[in-house]
Amino acid sequence: MSMPPAHSRLYSRSFLSMLPDAITPFPYLPPDATDTRPLLAELEALLEIINSSARLAITEYKKHGNNVPTIYSTEFHPLDFATDTVALKKAIRLLEDACQQLCASLAPPQHTLANVSRVHHRQYVTQLTTHDILEKYPSGSHIRELSQTVGLEKGKLARILRVFAFKGCFIEVDTDVFASNRLSLIMKSSNDCGCLTCIHAQDVSQGAGVLYETLTEPEYAMSYEPDKAPMIYVLKRKGLKGSFFDWMKADAKRRENYHYAMIALGPVMGSLSILHHYPWNDVATVCDVGASVGSVSIPLSKAHPHLKITDQDLPEVLEAARSVWEKEAFEALREKRVEFLTLDFFKEAPVPGKDVYYLRHIIHDWPDAEAAVILRNISKAMEPHSRLLIHNYVIAGANRRPDEEQRAPEPMLPNFGAGDSRKYRQDLNMWILHNAKERTVDDQITLA
Ligand SMILES: C[S@@+](CC[C@H](N)C(=O)[O-])C[C@H]1O[C@@H](n2cnc3c(N)ncnc32)[C@H](O)[C@@H]1O
Repeated sequence: MSMPPAHSRLYSRSFLSMLPDAITPFPYLPPDATDTRPLLAELEALLEIINSSARLAITEYKKHGNNVPTIYSTEFHPLDFATDTVALKKAIRLLEDACQQLCASLAPPQHTLANVSRVHHRQYVTQLTTHDILEKYPSGSHIRELSQTVGLEKGKLARILRVFAFKGCFIEVDTDVFASNRLSLIMKSSNDCGCLTCIHAQDVSQGAGVLYETLTEPEYAMSYEPDKAPMIYVLKRKGLKGSFFDWMKADAKRRENYHYAMIALGPVMGSLSILHHYPWNDVATVCDVGASVGSVSIPLSKAHPHLKITDQDLPEVLEAARSVWEKEAFEALREKRVEFLTLDFFKEAPVPGKDVYYLRHIIHDWPDAEAAVILRNISKAMEPHSRLLIHNYVIAGANRRPDEEQRAPEPMLPNFGAGDSRKYRQDLNMWILHNAKERTVDDQITLA
């Protein structure tokens, strides 16, 4: 295989090994327009990644159960309930990005743009009750009966369900006959994942609607203060005052939805993998700072019952937390393995001297100045044996830098592009809700 010597260090070994000997690897620098071979090699490499990553995912499913899911599956797979999903998520990250990159390469650009800009369905995803109803009709329900049960016009309801069906959610088993499947089960009202979708569909979407206005309005445009977030712009227009968390405090139903959404973050992000990938046996005490209703500390107490856990959050949140612990982890309460202490992390330090101070999705809620106050207050509580665990998404630029360890194999985007898109969307969500952000490793180090 011939390689341009000047750039050879820029090609990852895994990408090179995928290429047939006769093909020159695609160039890191802009290609010679007259030579189509490198471009073809790029497409071939993407096809290879799709094939190999899909096979890795299939292997993961087989390890956890006899069958492998398809969009026609009508039940959950055991792997859907696993807490350690790192291997599956790594495979899906490759698969999603390679599929997206191949489509964006081969489809006409106007086609791709139109798909990107027409995302209507998230607004009504949580408002439909069809997910609950269809489960009672395993072989499907005709839109005539379904529309009567949910009280919506049948033609319009069918059009919405068809858009979902394109995404693999619901199956149109016969013309105008819809049935539930593994994906629609996750949207049932009893599933915490629905609460997370609800925040995005109902709250974030309102803030997103004024994003451009806040980019151009002088008072908001240059500000990185929490009260200049697009969501606050919307709330002020509605005559409401205060911060995002004041808004939550004043609205019990919204607050409950928010905290159940935090529970859903475990399965959605796969972040409960921390139960398996941190040396908890070397730790005796943990302070969960901004613990919500125990979204991580309840599974942590179950997986590692030797731990003494302190949950700290705002008073109204800890009140709800107690009842969730009573329902979900009564043993831990009875054995006094958990305590609840109110905290305003802007005004005071958490409980002193714990082995681990754990912050999941706390720092990303705040711009740098506020995040620094939180960390400074935690540092006051820490002793030499204490460790700070910041559990956030880690973002990175989409450019390939010769000076850093390559992450995604070529020719994928180095930051895994569409395969890791949720963290970049979450970065925008944090901007919309809090004027805050997700951070790179360097950002986190600087802040710390
Ligand atoms: C995005 S949630 C993360 C919750 C939890 N760590 C998790 O990952 O599920 C942010 C948490 O910070 C808490 N919080 C907000 N302002 C706070 C403050 N001033 N002091 C203490 N906790 C606060 C909220 O009540 C909420 O539980």
